[in-house]
Amino acid sequence: MKHRKTKIVSTGSYIPETIISNLDLEKMVDTSDEWISTRTGIKKRHIAHEKEAASDLAYQASIKALKKAGISAKELDMIIVTTITPDMLFPATACVLQHMLGAKKIPAFDVEAACSGFIYGVSIASQFISNGTYETILVVASETLSKITDWEDRNTCVIFADGAGAGVLRPSEDESGIISIYLGADGEGADIVGVPAGGSRMPASIKTVEERQHYMKMKGNELFKRAVKVMVEAADKAIKEAGLTYKDIDFFIPHQANIRIIQAVAKRMSIPMDKVYVNLQECGNMSAASIAVALDQAIEEGKVKKGDKILFSCFGGGLTWGSMLIKW
Ligand code: ACO
Repeated sequence: MKHRKTKIVSTGSYIPETIISNLDLEKMVDTSDEWISTRTGIKKRHIAHEKEAASDLAYQASIKALKKAGISAKELDMIIVTTITPDMLFPATACVLQHMLGAKKIPAFDVEAACSGFIYGVSIASQFISNGTYETILVVASETLSKITDWEDRNTCVIFADGAGAGVLRPSEDESGIISIYLGADGEGADIVGVPAGGSRMPASIKTVEERQHYMKMKGNELFKRAVKVMVEAADKAIKEAGLTYKDIDFFIPHQANIRIIQAVAKRMSIPMDKVYVNLQECGNMSAASIAVALDQAIEEGKVKKGDKILFSCFGGGLTWGSMLIKW
């Protein structure tokens, strides 16, 4: 069996136009710009249009990534969408996207790993490329969290946002590419963040709607405590597997949940904040899309240079976590 190095050859992202600022939220729930800014670092977030679904955002991000890769959708061998806000329970948003893009009848499926979705998706895609099964795979993280956000719940509505980020993966022809990936999960924490109703445990009913059970519920403080520890532990594994230390890292792209989590994680890794990419002040927490969008923005802003070693670390509902180290 062949073992080939895999590379993210291009990225693309899409952020909806509509912005909700902290000042807007002050008018909606009992909160303040000061509380949100100091406790989370978030100043504003972008929200999808009423008629925009996850596949619409995914499509916009995908066509940018395909264009940058210089390929057409017809050249794709597989599509993976990672989302916790699919267009519908089924069919998969990846199938909807396959049709929108005009791709061939290639495999298309969704991966649900909450905020860890993009790293999970890239990891799966890289296996198919590494073992020689496929040449070109599109991984898209797309979230419309505004649709499952309770805009009357100040614990969650100040945090979440919408957006999509895509990556085209191919075999690497040089030294660049994925060096190591590590994934983890702990279902013991499954009740810490999630949407209780609408699945087989609590099917949709008038009662579930009246009780607002179709909106995201989150024990933020529980997540906060675990996030720092687990993001560092996950990154440790990717670093160790690569035989490197944090001193070797040129750029760190963490999941964008909370500036205090990011600062604490970077501090434990002894990575200075000028090497850390942060977009949550503008974009909020876009779950799976956060890391994918951040990578695309960092590239577009010229913050990532050829040969840089980029570390990613994430944590989210499930609970799930993961890390990835790549040479750009
Ligand atoms: N405005 C004002 N006060 C608020 C708000 C708000 N928006 N939200 C909560 N508070 C209040 C609480 O009610 C509480 O008041 P009390 O002491 O009178 O009970 C107080 O502020 C402190 O609440 P905490 O929850 O302890 O605040 P904390 O400092 O932990 O910050 C936050 C909350 C921002 C949610 C933080 O815990 C966090 O970022 N957690 C991590 C979230 C995360 O990582 N999510 C990723 C996974 S999500 C996914 O996978 C989709």
